[in-house]
Amino acid sequence: MNRRILFYLLIFDAFFISGILLFLGFNWYWALLGLLPILLIAIASSQIQWNFFLTAIHSGKTSEPKIALTFDDGPHPIYTPQVLDILKKNNIKVSFFLIGQNVQQFPHLVKRILDEGHTIGNHSFTHSKTIDFKNKKSWLGEIEKTDSEIEKLCGMKPRFFRPPYGVTTPHLASAIEKSKHLVIGWNVRSFDTSSRNPSKTVQKICEEIRPGSIVLLHDRHESILPILEQLLPKLRDKNFTFVTVNELIHEEPFHQA
Ligand code: NI
Repeated sequence: MNRRILFYLLIFDAFFISGILLFLGFNWYWALLGLLPILLIAIASSQIQWNFFLTAIHSGKTSEPKIALTFDDGPHPIYTPQVLDILKKNNIKVSFFLIGQNVQQFPHLVKRILDEGHTIGNHSFTHSKTIDFKNKKSWLGEIEKTDSEIEKLCGMKPRFFRPPYGVTTPHLASAIEKSKHLVIGWNVRSFDTSSRNPSKTVQKICEEIRPGSIVLLHDRHESILPILEQLLPKLRDKNFTFVTVNELIHEEPFHQA
């Protein structure tokens, strides 16, 4: 079934069932149970792996020990250069999902990312806290503005898109259909931004990682530096090799002009 129709059907269903229950004289807490489909929508929206509202790629199909590290929310003026230094020292190529506003502010960092052989993708323009409530038109604006900021720098529009917070909605799905991006999720979430203990974060990643994994990290906070310093040798010891997302999933990272 069309996922957008399913979305509206679930909302309608929720209020319909609650209304009927109230009408039949049930207590209000029974009527609240009727609202469960809305809870389902909320959970499904926040679980990108479910592919509920849109289909995303969460890993590469390979039995070889190849993985892709991905960094969201940059470029950041303090941490991105340090992350790039660590990657360079280890001769590792990764993928960055960039926020358009930051691209506009720190174009030299985007150039450095590309010059050093990494891949980039679109991660919305504002990454605002209320972004998930945007309609299709506003979503398209978010996506297209970031595309054009990137195009100004390298002459090509990115093909990969990663939803902020990993939240997906029917409106975002419609916008993506129009903008023709490939949505990239992850199958290892590090929760690095809330990490107080880098060793624990590294241990969690090492336990969850599999051949073909896409790992979600962020280059906008200080803990990423000790996390990377510990993570890279550990993964090397496990014989993993690091590739960009495009290499892992065999897809072009830019739209061909
Ligand atoms: Ni983000």
